[in-house]
Amino acid sequence: MIHNETIDTQLNHRSIRKFKDQTLTKEQLETLYSVFGQTPTSMFMQNASLLHVTDPEEKKKIQKLCNQKYVGAEGDLFIFIVDLYRNQLDKDDGRVHTTDIFFQAIEDTLLAFQNVANAVESMGLGYVPLGTVNDHPLDLLKTLDLPELTFPVLGMQVGMPDQKPQLKPRLPLKFTCFEGSYKKDFDVKDLKDYDDIVTTYYDLRDSNRRIDSFTKQITGKKLDLHETDRDQLPEELHKQGLCLDWK
Ligand SMILES: Cc1cc2nc3c(=O)[nH]c(=O)nc-3n(C[C@H](O)[C@H](O)[C@H](O)COP(=O)(O)O)c2cc1C
Repeated sequence: MIHNETIDTQLNHRSIRKFKDQTLTKEQLETLYSVFGQTPTSMFMQNASLLHVTDPEEKKKIQKLCNQKYVGAEGDLFIFIVDLYRNQLDKDDGRVHTTDIFFQAIEDTLLAFQNVANAVESMGLGYVPLGTVNDHPLDLLKTLDLPELTFPVLGMQVGMPDQKPQLKPRLPLKFTCFEGSYKKDFDVKDLKDYDDIVTTYYDLRDSNRRIDSFTKQITGKKLDLHETDRDQLPEELHKQGLCLDWK
């Protein structure tokens, strides 16, 4: 196993949900923007944008939509956006509205997210990804006042860590990394040892409580079939002019 500063930082990743009461410096911001800009991009289309949310009222609204108190609080809030708006201003023959092009833009946006995330951690800062920004897609789109052909994908709260969470144990690599061919002979019983490891992990998000075993989490209520505002996603994508070929 090779160790260097980059790899060790990546291997030490943990989400941070409590930040010191300070915001990023101009230099830190400029650095993150540059890293965002230099991310690989499908077909050189550069179909991602980054929005630094600065208005206190807007931050409060997003915090409410996410229902997580650390969102828009200490530190800085960013929204990573699929952005097909710029490139269609001169040409729109319909292709930009396909799932294929949306997929490419999602790829760009998520690569840029992780590129920025790595830069954040390399500077001694911390972050938490925010999928909850899309818990109420219609309200988020209104709050951010985004034009057609754009879509917020993930949020990121960034700042100086004010907590030291335990490293969250991941699945043994034999379950997730394959040499040559995909291993289909997976048996949930094989996860027994991993379940024991996970139940000894303390989740700071949950008031310092131990969390359920991994198998209990993947079979638990969270994934039960239920209605949620997130079901609005396809409709909202269509309203933004995206994935129009996907009914
Ligand atoms: C796409 C994505 C969305 C996430 N959304 C949230 C979120 O809305 N709120 C939150 O507190 N953590 C969120 N997380 C963080 C995960 O809970 C966290 O990465 C996972 O539990 C593993 O913990 P670790 O990052 O500390 O290793 C998200 C992570 C990912 C990759």
